[in-house]
Amino acid sequence: MKGIILAGGSGTRLYPLTLVTSKQLLPVYDKPMIYYPLSVLMMAGIQDILILSTPEDTPRFEELLKDGSSFGIRLSYLVQPKPEGLAQAFLLGESFLGTDSACMILGDNIFHGDGLIRHLQEAKKRAERGTATVFGYPVKDPERFGTAEFDKDGRPLRIVEKSPSPQSNQAITGLYFYPQGVSSLAKTLSPSERGELEITDLNNLYLQHGRMEIDLLGRGYSWLDTGTMDSLTDACFFVKAIEDHQDRKLCCPEEIAFNNGWIDKEELLKAATRMAKSDYGQYLFKLAKLKEKTH
Ligand code: G1P
Repeated sequence: MKGIILAGGSGTRLYPLTLVTSKQLLPVYDKPMIYYPLSVLMMAGIQDILILSTPEDTPRFEELLKDGSSFGIRLSYLVQPKPEGLAQAFLLGESFLGTDSACMILGDNIFHGDGLIRHLQEAKKRAERGTATVFGYPVKDPERFGTAEFDKDGRPLRIVEKSPSPQSNQAITGLYFYPQGVSSLAKTLSPSERGELEITDLNNLYLQHGRMEIDLLGRGYSWLDTGTMDSLTDACFFVKAIEDHQDRKLCCPEEIAFNNGWIDKEELLKAATRMAKSDYGQYLFKLAKLKEKTH
C-alpha cells in the first residue's frame, strides 16, 4: 500500500496566518501540522508516501521533510496545479500508485486514540482484499463535513457532502483507504457544481458497488480538523494537554519509525542532536535512552 497526503488549499479561513505559509506547516502545539497525518500513515505501516501541495508550498514541504530517510520512509512530492477536488489526488498520483492500494489523508486532519493502529491495519488489509474504508466520527456540526446516511438497520446508504440538514452526526473524516484501481475509478467522476472532483462521489461509487466499509470510531478516539482559528487553537491545547499528562508525544514520526524498526538508534540520536535545544529534541534523546521500545 502507498500513501498520499493532500496538503493543498490556500487556507483562506486562517488569514493572515496563511498569507505567506501553508496551513499544513503551521504549528499544532510542538510540531508542524503535517507531522500528524504523516504519523497516521506511518502507523498504518506505509513507507511510500506522496505529498501533494500547491506550486508555492511543495518546495517548503520538501525542505522540511526531505526524502523521508530520517523517518525511515520514502517521500515523493507532486504539485497540484489547481485545487480541483480531493479525488483529483488519484489522477495526479496515478503513476505513483501504480498497481498498489492507496491510503489518502488530508494534511490538516489529526487522529488520536488507543487502538488506532488496529483500525488502520484492518482498513489496510481490507483495501488489499478489494474493499475501501472510510471512518465516521460523531460531531456537533455535521453540516461542515461529508456525512453518512444509514438505513433503519444501520447499514450505510450513502455519503452526503455538506448537507444543510444531515441525517446523522457521523462526519466522514479525511482518511480514506482504497483498493488498487482507485485512479481508474476517479477518472469516471465528473466535477461537482463547485467544479471539484468530490471525494464523496468517489466514496459513493464504492458504496454502490458494495465495496465500502464505514468504520465508526467510538469513544476513546479523537479526530480534530484544524480548518478554522478556533479548531486550530483547540487542537494545540488538546495535544498539549495529552503530552503534559502522559509524558509522551503524539504523532512523533521519529518515534514511530524507531518503534517500527525503520530507523536505528543512531539515526534517532542524529535527529535528537539536530533539535537538541527544543523539548522535541530532548524527547528524542529520552527515547534513544529507553531500553524498552515504547508502544
Ligand atoms: C473534506 C471532504 C469532507 C470531509 C472533510 C474532512 O471537506 O470534502 O467530506 O468530511 O474533508 O476533513 P473540506 O475540508 O475540503 O471542506
